[in-house]
Amino acid sequence: MRQKRWLQPHHPSKFGGRCLALFALCALALTTACTDRMAPSDDRFGRSGELVAMSGGEGGARYACATCHGVRGEGNGFDAPRLAGLPAGYLQKQMEDFAAGLRPHEAMRDVARFLDSHERVQVANHYAAMAMHALPPATQASIDAATPALYARACQQCHGVDGVGSVNGPPLNAQPAFYLTQQLQDWQVSKRRNDGNHEMLKVAQELDAGQVTQLGLYLAQIPPRPASPGR
Ligand code: HEC
Ligand code: HEC
Repeated sequence: MRQKRWLQPHHPSKFGGRCLALFALCALALTTACTDRMAPSDDRFGRSGELVAMSGGEGGARYACATCHGVRGEGNGFDAPRLAGLPAGYLQKQMEDFAAGLRPHEAMRDVARFLDSHERVQVANHYAAMAMHALPPATQASIDAATPALYARACQQCHGVDGVGSVNGPPLNAQPAFYLTQQLQDWQVSKRRNDGNHEMLKVAQELDAGQVTQLGLYLAQIPPRPASPGR
Protein backbone atom coordinates (compact mmCIF):
# COMPACT_ATOMS: atom_id res chain seq x y z
CA MET A 1 0.00 0.00 0.00
CA ARG A 2 1.18 3.49 -0.78
CA GLN A 3 2.64 5.24 2.24
CA LYS A 4 0.87 8.33 3.50
CA ARG A 5 2.74 11.59 3.33
CA TRP A 6 2.64 11.99 7.10
CA LEU A 7 4.65 8.85 7.65
CA GLN A 8 7.61 10.33 5.95
CA PRO A 9 8.75 13.43 7.85
CA HIS A 10 10.74 15.92 5.88
CA HIS A 11 14.37 15.90 6.75
CA PRO A 12 15.38 19.00 8.70
CA SER A 13 18.47 19.62 6.60
CA LYS A 14 16.23 20.32 3.63
CA PHE A 15 15.22 23.59 5.25
CA GLY A 16 18.69 24.70 6.20
CA GLY A 17 19.60 26.13 2.82
CA ARG A 18 16.31 27.93 2.39
CA CYS A 19 16.54 29.42 5.88
CA LEU A 20 20.06 30.63 5.32
CA ALA A 21 19.02 32.24 2.05
CA LEU A 22 16.14 33.90 3.87
CA PHE A 23 18.52 35.03 6.56
CA ALA A 24 20.75 36.68 4.02
CA LEU A 25 17.73 38.43 2.54
CA CYS A 26 16.65 39.62 5.96
CA ALA A 27 20.09 40.92 6.79
CA LEU A 28 19.90 42.92 3.57
CA ALA A 29 16.42 44.23 4.14
CA LEU A 30 17.12 45.11 7.77
CA THR A 31 13.46 45.33 8.61
CA THR A 32 12.77 45.19 12.33
CA ALA A 33 10.25 42.38 12.14
CA CYS A 34 12.52 40.30 10.02
CA THR A 35 15.69 40.80 12.01
CA ASP A 36 13.76 40.13 15.23
CA ARG A 37 12.50 36.88 13.86
CA MET A 38 15.84 35.88 12.40
CA ALA A 39 18.18 37.12 15.13
CA PRO A 40 21.26 34.93 14.90
CA SER A 41 21.83 35.19 18.65
CA ASP A 42 18.97 32.81 19.44
CA ASP A 43 20.79 29.89 17.84
CA ARG A 44 17.69 28.65 16.12
CA PHE A 45 19.48 25.89 14.26
CA GLY A 46 20.91 24.43 17.40
CA ARG A 47 17.71 24.53 19.44
CA SER A 48 16.41 21.11 20.15
CA GLY A 49 12.81 19.93 20.05
CA GLU A 50 12.98 19.47 23.78
CA LEU A 51 13.79 23.11 24.34
CA VAL A 52 10.80 24.14 22.23
CA ALA A 53 8.61 21.71 24.14
CA MET A 54 9.69 22.98 27.53
CA SER A 55 10.29 26.69 26.94
CA GLY A 56 8.02 27.57 24.03
CA GLY A 57 10.85 28.89 21.85
CA GLU A 58 10.42 32.39 20.50
CA GLY A 59 6.75 32.55 21.42
CA GLY A 60 7.64 32.40 25.11
CA ALA A 61 6.36 30.23 27.95
CA ARG A 62 2.71 30.55 26.94
CA TYR A 63 3.56 28.51 23.84
CA ALA A 64 5.52 25.84 25.67
CA CYS A 65 3.98 22.55 24.58
CA ALA A 66 4.38 21.09 28.06
CA THR A 67 1.97 23.66 29.51
CA CYS A 68 -0.95 21.99 27.74
CA HIS A 69 0.39 18.62 26.57
CA GLY A 70 2.13 17.74 29.85
CA VAL A 71 5.83 17.43 30.67
CA ARG A 72 5.82 13.82 29.49
CA GLY A 73 3.68 14.51 26.42
CA GLU A 74 0.80 12.73 28.09
CA GLY A 75 -1.85 15.35 27.23
CA ASN A 76 -4.18 17.04 29.72
CA GLY A 77 -6.80 14.32 29.78
CA PHE A 78 -9.33 16.70 28.28
CA ASP A 79 -8.92 18.77 25.14
CA ALA A 80 -5.15 18.55 24.58
CA PRO A 81 -4.14 15.14 23.21
CA ARG A 82 -1.24 12.91 24.11
CA LEU A 83 1.70 13.57 21.79
CA ALA A 84 4.14 11.08 23.29
CA GLY A 85 4.85 8.22 20.90
CA LEU A 86 2.74 9.49 17.98
CA PRO A 87 4.39 9.16 14.53
CA ALA A 88 6.72 12.08 13.78
CA GLY A 89 5.30 12.60 10.29
CA TYR A 90 1.76 12.81 11.65
CA LEU A 91 2.76 15.34 14.34
CA GLN A 92 4.60 17.48 11.84
CA LYS A 93 1.69 17.44 9.41
CA GLN A 94 -0.70 18.58 12.12
CA MET A 95 1.55 21.53 12.97
CA GLU A 96 1.57 22.54 9.31
CA ASP A 97 -2.19 22.10 9.03
CA PHE A 98 -2.79 24.22 12.16
CA ALA A 99 -0.54 26.94 10.77
CA ALA A 100 -2.30 26.82 7.40
CA GLY A 101 -5.80 26.83 8.94
CA LEU A 102 -6.79 23.46 7.46
CA ARG A 103 -7.28 22.38 11.03
CA PRO A 104 -8.72 25.49 12.66
CA HIS A 105 -7.78 25.91 16.32
CA GLU A 106 -6.80 29.29 17.68
CA ALA A 107 -4.25 28.27 20.32
CA MET A 108 -2.56 25.69 18.13
CA ARG A 109 -2.51 28.05 15.16
CA ASP A 110 -0.54 30.59 17.18
CA VAL A 111 1.73 27.89 18.59
CA ALA A 112 2.48 26.45 15.14
CA ARG A 113 3.03 29.85 13.53
CA PHE A 114 5.72 30.71 16.04
CA LEU A 115 7.75 27.74 14.86
CA ASP A 116 9.50 27.49 11.52
CA SER A 117 9.57 24.28 9.48
CA HIS A 118 12.81 23.20 11.07
CA GLU A 119 11.47 23.60 14.60
CA ARG A 120 8.27 21.75 13.71
CA VAL A 121 10.34 18.79 12.59
CA GLN A 122 12.49 18.97 15.72
CA VAL A 123 9.58 19.09 18.12
CA ALA A 124 7.73 16.35 16.19
CA ASN A 125 10.76 14.09 16.42
CA HIS A 126 11.08 14.89 20.11
CA TYR A 127 7.53 13.74 20.93
CA ALA A 128 7.64 10.77 18.56
CA ALA A 129 10.72 9.46 20.37
CA MET A 130 9.11 9.75 23.82
CA ALA A 131 7.81 6.73 25.70
CA MET A 132 4.02 6.46 25.30
CA HIS A 133 2.93 8.29 28.40
CA ALA A 134 -0.79 8.80 28.74
CA LEU A 135 -3.19 9.79 31.50
CA PRO A 136 -5.69 7.24 32.76
CA PRO A 137 -9.18 7.74 31.25
CA ALA A 138 -11.14 10.54 32.92
CA THR A 139 -14.19 8.33 33.40
CA GLN A 140 -14.65 4.59 33.66
CA ALA A 141 -17.72 4.70 31.48
CA SER A 142 -19.44 1.52 30.40
CA ILE A 143 -18.97 0.66 26.76
CA ASP A 144 -21.85 -0.72 24.68
CA ALA A 145 -21.15 -4.18 23.32
CA ALA A 146 -21.76 -2.77 19.82
CA THR A 147 -18.90 -0.26 20.04
CA PRO A 148 -15.85 -2.53 19.65
CA ALA A 149 -17.64 -4.16 16.71
CA LEU A 150 -18.36 -0.76 15.18
CA TYR A 151 -14.70 0.15 15.61
CA ALA A 152 -13.54 -3.09 13.98
CA ARG A 153 -15.89 -2.57 11.05
CA ALA A 154 -15.52 1.14 10.38
CA CYS A 155 -12.16 2.25 11.76
CA GLN A 156 -9.72 -0.59 12.26
CA GLN A 157 -8.56 -0.86 8.66
CA CYS A 158 -6.92 2.54 9.02
CA HIS A 159 -6.37 2.97 12.77
CA GLY A 160 -5.23 -0.57 13.54
CA VAL A 161 -6.27 -3.19 16.07
CA ASP A 162 -7.00 -1.47 19.42
CA GLY A 163 -6.45 1.91 17.77
CA VAL A 164 -2.67 1.64 17.86
CA GLY A 165 -2.39 3.20 14.39
CA SER A 166 -1.30 1.91 10.98
CA VAL A 167 0.21 3.27 7.78
CA ASN A 168 -3.27 4.59 6.97
CA GLY A 169 -4.17 6.42 10.15
CA PRO A 170 -2.73 7.75 13.44
CA PRO A 171 -3.06 6.06 16.84
CA LEU A 172 -6.29 6.83 18.69
CA ASN A 173 -5.85 4.68 21.79
CA ALA A 174 -5.20 6.36 25.13
CA GLN A 175 -6.32 9.75 23.86
CA PRO A 176 -8.77 11.70 26.02
CA ALA A 177 -12.40 10.79 25.22
CA PHE A 178 -13.33 14.47 25.08
CA TYR A 179 -10.59 15.11 22.53
CA LEU A 180 -11.58 12.18 20.29
CA THR A 181 -15.24 13.17 20.38
CA GLN A 182 -14.32 16.75 19.55
CA GLN A 183 -12.31 15.68 16.49
CA LEU A 184 -15.12 13.51 15.15
CA GLN A 185 -17.60 16.36 15.64
CA ASP A 186 -15.21 18.76 13.90
CA TRP A 187 -15.11 16.42 10.92
CA GLN A 188 -18.86 16.00 10.87
CA VAL A 189 -19.27 19.73 10.30
CA SER A 190 -16.18 19.90 8.04
CA LYS A 191 -14.34 22.18 10.47
CA ARG A 192 -11.33 19.86 10.50
CA ARG A 193 -10.64 19.10 6.86
CA ASN A 194 -6.99 18.17 6.70
CA ASP A 195 -7.35 14.52 5.67
CA GLY A 196 -6.23 14.17 2.09
CA ASN A 197 -9.10 12.22 0.55
CA HIS A 198 -11.78 13.27 3.04
CA GLU A 199 -11.96 9.73 4.30
CA MET A 200 -12.48 10.95 7.87
CA LEU A 201 -15.16 13.38 6.78
CA LYS A 202 -17.12 10.57 5.14
CA VAL A 203 -16.61 8.15 8.03
CA ALA A 204 -17.55 10.72 10.67
CA GLN A 205 -20.69 11.82 8.87
CA GLU A 206 -22.03 8.29 9.01
CA LEU A 207 -21.85 8.20 12.81
CA ASP A 208 -24.66 9.38 15.07
CA ALA A 209 -24.02 11.35 18.27
CA GLY A 210 -24.26 8.27 20.49
CA GLN A 211 -21.71 6.38 18.41
CA VAL A 212 -19.30 9.32 18.47
CA THR A 213 -19.45 9.47 22.28
CA GLN A 214 -19.09 5.71 22.61
CA LEU A 215 -16.11 5.49 20.25
CA GLY A 216 -14.37 8.25 22.21
CA LEU A 217 -14.92 6.48 25.54
CA TYR A 218 -13.91 3.11 24.10
CA LEU A 219 -10.64 4.29 22.57
CA ALA A 220 -9.71 6.43 25.59
CA GLN A 221 -9.62 3.42 27.87
CA ILE A 222 -7.33 1.30 25.68
CA PRO A 223 -3.84 1.60 27.21
CA PRO A 224 -1.05 3.01 25.06
CA ARG A 225 1.11 0.45 23.31
CA PRO A 226 3.23 0.49 20.19
CA ALA A 227 1.81 -0.78 16.92
CA SER A 228 3.22 -4.15 15.93
CA PRO A 229 6.42 -3.95 13.88
CA GLY A 230 6.05 -3.76 10.12
CA ARG A 231 2.82 -1.76 10.19
C1 HEC B 1 -2.46 26.60 25.10
C2 HEC B 1 -2.43 25.15 25.09
C3 HEC B 1 -1.52 24.48 24.07
C4 HEC B 1 -0.17 24.68 23.84
C5 HEC B 1 0.73 25.68 24.52
C6 HEC B 1 0.22 23.73 22.83
N1 HEC B 1 -0.86 22.96 22.45
FE1 HEC B 1 -0.89 21.55 21.00
N2 HEC B 1 -2.89 21.31 21.25
C7 HEC B 1 -3.67 21.98 22.17
C8 HEC B 1 -5.06 21.61 21.99
C9 HEC B 1 -6.24 22.10 22.81
C10 HEC B 1 -5.08 20.69 20.90
C11 HEC B 1 -6.32 20.06 20.24
C12 HEC B 1 -6.69 20.91 19.05
C13 HEC B 1 -7.96 20.50 18.37
O1 HEC B 1 -8.96 20.25 19.05
O2 HEC B 1 -7.94 20.40 17.13
C14 HEC B 1 -3.71 20.52 20.47
C15 HEC B 1 -3.31 19.67 19.44
C16 HEC B 1 -2.00 19.46 19.07
C17 HEC B 1 -1.58 18.51 18.05
C18 HEC B 1 -2.46 17.55 17.28
C19 HEC B 1 -2.26 16.15 17.83
C20 HEC B 1 -3.13 15.11 17.21
O3 HEC B 1 -3.24 14.02 17.79
O4 HEC B 1 -3.71 15.36 16.15
C21 HEC B 1 -0.21 18.62 17.95
C22 HEC B 1 0.70 17.85 17.02
C23 HEC B 1 0.20 19.60 18.91
N3 HEC B 1 -0.89 20.11 19.58
C24 HEC B 1 1.52 19.97 19.12
C25 HEC B 1 1.93 20.97 19.99
C26 HEC B 1 3.30 21.40 20.12
C27 HEC B 1 4.48 20.76 19.40
C28 HEC B 1 3.30 22.44 21.00
C29 HEC B 1 4.48 23.29 21.44
C30 HEC B 1 5.32 23.83 20.40
C31 HEC B 1 1.92 22.64 21.43
N4 HEC B 1 1.11 21.73 20.79
C32 HEC B 1 1.50 23.61 22.33
C33 HEC B 1 -3.22 22.87 23.11
C34 HEC B 1 -1.94 23.39 23.19
C1 HEC C 1 -9.81 5.22 5.22
C2 HEC C 1 -9.03 5.40 6.42
C3 HEC C 1 -9.71 5.83 7.70
C4 HEC C 1 -10.82 5.26 8.29
C5 HEC C 1 -11.70 4.13 7.78
C6 HEC C 1 -10.99 5.95 9.55
N1 HEC C 1 -10.01 6.91 9.70
FE1 HEC C 1 -9.80 8.18 11.27
N2 HEC C 1 -8.21 9.07 10.36
C7 HEC C 1 -7.69 8.70 9.15
C8 HEC C 1 -6.58 9.57 8.82
C9 HEC C 1 -5.72 9.51 7.57
C10 HEC C 1 -6.46 10.49 9.90
C11 HEC C 1 -5.44 11.63 10.03
C12 HEC C 1 -5.83 12.79 9.15
C13 HEC C 1 -4.82 13.91 9.30
O1 HEC C 1 -4.98 14.74 10.18
O2 HEC C 1 -3.84 13.92 8.56
C14 HEC C 1 -7.50 10.14 10.86
C15 HEC C 1 -7.69 10.78 12.05
C16 HEC C 1 -8.64 10.43 13.00
C17 HEC C 1 -8.83 11.07 14.28
C18 HEC C 1 -8.00 12.23 14.82
C19 HEC C 1 -6.82 11.70 15.60
C20 HEC C 1 -6.07 12.79 16.28
O3 HEC C 1 -5.08 12.48 16.98
O4 HEC C 1 -6.42 13.97 16.13
C21 HEC C 1 -9.86 10.44 14.91
C22 HEC C 1 -10.43 10.75 16.28
C23 HEC C 1 -10.30 9.39 14.03
N3 HEC C 1 -9.55 9.41 12.86
C24 HEC C 1 -11.33 8.52 14.33
C25 HEC C 1 -11.80 7.53 13.48
C26 HEC C 1 -12.89 6.64 13.80
C27 HEC C 1 -13.63 6.62 15.13
C28 HEC C 1 -13.11 5.87 12.71
C29 HEC C 1 -14.19 4.83 12.50
C30 HEC C 1 -15.55 5.25 12.78
C31 HEC C 1 -12.10 6.24 11.70
N4 HEC C 1 -11.35 7.25 12.22
C32 HEC C 1 -11.99 5.67 10.46
C33 HEC C 1 -8.11 7.66 8.36
C34 HEC C 1 -9.22 6.86 8.59
